[in-house]
Amino acid sequence: MLVDSVNELIRKRRTVKPKMMANQEVDTSIIQEMLTNANWAPTHGLTEPWRFTIFTGDARSNLAMFLAETYKALTPPDAFKQNKYEGMSKNALLAPVVIAIGMKRQTSRKISELDEIQAVACAVQNMHLTATAHGLCAFWSTNVAAVSNEMARYTGLTDEDRALGLFYVGYPIAEWPTGSRRAIEEKVRWVSE
Ligand SMILES: Cc1cc2nc3c(=O)[nH]c(=O)nc-3n(C[C@H](O)[C@H](O)[C@H](O)COP(=O)(O)O)c2cc1C
Repeated sequence: MLVDSVNELIRKRRTVKPKMMANQEVDTSIIQEMLTNANWAPTHGLTEPWRFTIFTGDARSNLAMFLAETYKALTPPDAFKQNKYEGMSKNALLAPVVIAIGMKRQTSRKISELDEIQAVACAVQNMHLTATAHGLCAFWSTNVAAVSNEMARYTGLTDEDRALGLFYVGYPIAEWPTGSRRAIEEKVRWVSE
């Protein structure tokens, strides 16, 4: 049943960080399928604002160094943490595929920035669910470097656009993790009269 499959897929989707990802290539056709499904996200005014840059292989080294150096440049010296810098210089090498998530702003700006960002988030969820169907986990990272104007420019966007983070994709080395959520009833109010 489609409903059962959808329920299972949505609840199975998990975040796993790069250090828990296997050193195993991901077939390009899977990434292509994730991107195609991202492209089917809802989009106000059909602006299709999502932009993706895929880093694989050696390109990840430059990305890792860029992230660490951007973190250093954007962080006041008293808030700078050496272990964070080192983590940033490694993460991109621990995941076989890293996807930079961007939002391209329309010149007319007819659609609000909020709507454009929300559309991109829908696209990312489509990617994540598709990854899950292939036994892949992922991690959406939104640290200071990953969402900076520097990151936008690094991926060919401008200061009018937005870098919305990095999406690390890979196979988990450990067992598929279980998730947890507080009850939906805590977050819902039904209004009927
Ligand atoms: C927009 C967005 C940004 C996120 N950024 C981070 C992040 O910077 N660091 C982090 O540890 N997790 C980040 N996450 C992932 C969450 O930690 C993760 O979704 C949460 O722990 C629930 O786990 P699950 O995805 O396996 O259900 C982000 C998730 C979203 C939706």
